[in-house]
Amino acid sequence: MMNMNSALCKPGHDVLWWGMTFREDIRHRLGPLADKPHVAAALTVLGEPGSIHAIPTPAAVLDLDAFDRNVARMAERARAAGLALRPHFKSHKTAALVRRQLEAGAVGVCCAKLAEAEALAAEGVGQILVTSPIAGPAAAARAAALAAALPDFRIVLDHPDAAAELAAAAQGPIQVVIDVDVGMGRTGCHDAEQAAAVARAVLAHPTLKLLGVQGYGGSWQHIEGANARAAAAAEGMKQLQAAIAAVRATGGTVEVVTGGGTGTFAADAAQGVLNEVQPGSFAFMDREYRDALKSDPDGAFEQSLTIHSTVISANHPKWVTIDAGLKAFSTDGPTPQPLGERFAACAYRFFGDEHGMLSRPKDAPVARGDRLALTPGHIDPTLDRYDLMHLVQGDVLVDIVRIEGRGASQ
Ligand SMILES: Cc1ncc(COP(=O)(O)O)c(C=O)c1O
Repeated sequence: MMNMNSALCKPGHDVLWWGMTFREDIRHRLGPLADKPHVAAALTVLGEPGSIHAIPTPAAVLDLDAFDRNVARMAERARAAGLALRPHFKSHKTAALVRRQLEAGAVGVCCAKLAEAEALAAEGVGQILVTSPIAGPAAAARAAALAAALPDFRIVLDHPDAAAELAAAAQGPIQVVIDVDVGMGRTGCHDAEQAAAVARAVLAHPTLKLLGVQGYGGSWQHIEGANARAAAAAEGMKQLQAAIAAVRATGGTVEVVTGGGTGTFAADAAQGVLNEVQPGSFAFMDREYRDALKSDPDGAFEQSLTIHSTVISANHPKWVTIDAGLKAFSTDGPTPQPLGERFAACAYRFFGDEHGMLSRPKDAPVARGDRLALTPGHIDPTLDRYDLMHLVQGDVLVDIVRIEGRGASQ
């Protein structure tokens, strides 16, 4: 597998040690996508100073140095707290970025769905926990195939029937983790008794290897204020501790206690119930998290991923129209936030499928063709709208990578 770090920062025409120019190597990695005219246009400016301003928009653009700083910061916080770090793939969905997280010390990665895990496995990543339960024999067969192919595949389950389905499909041992509902009500065993019933079902199937439990509190992550977030997490951790005791009482092993996200990291570290954390959004950040963490003493991750857009019409005296609308951003979170000195005070509004309305800045002219970056409201579903991610360092486009997990929600 190519080591992406060694390939970065070369002008497009430099020859790599395996004999391709850097541009040829990217074309090879992108496959047929590289032939699309807008991708070909970006490839022609690769490695050139100022090339960030020539990426066809709307585009997902990653400030690679800011991403690396976020990754190093979270790795250091986990190391200092004695927690294993298993970042979630559902935020960035990109194998090249998983490799950087593993190099920075992550023990593995989480995937939300089997299709995400399959996309990552195809890229050679082998330490995967699937954090959503699955249902039915066809899904169990896919999980069994992953377990047979990968060095360290794990999957959660929250019902005795899931244990029977996995055992029936197994081609060899399958590592499982019992999902416990810690207050969100989305998935997981609702109480300690249900967790014990799942543990007994797992123990009845010798092909299944019980590793421990998962307790993820999604509804706590964006509570504003570290203390309020920690209080909500503490309640949920009591439920998780009760489930752990019930599983142990069946004779089941609980070595792994996994869960947590970007918002609860400090609380998870302080409360000491989890021994593995699964944050995802910290690597890119979004407006929702920036607002929730703004008063946290240690909450400052950088906005590394932004959506770049172009002013395509500037005829109205009060606003201009940009090329990023409902198809460029998810609409479930806060509205996108324009960035940069000229645009930060401007208001963005969705202007239909393809367009956004941007109020004109007070004292600065804006012309057709001007470009700006925006912070997405909610990063995960926003990024799922893009095939490719443009990696930049300063104002230089240094790489274009496929977002392999894009659309992989099956
Ligand atoms: C099970 C699970 N773990 C971890 C995460 C990551 O959380 P965050 O992106 O808030 O860091 C999520 C996100 O939805 C999740 O569903």
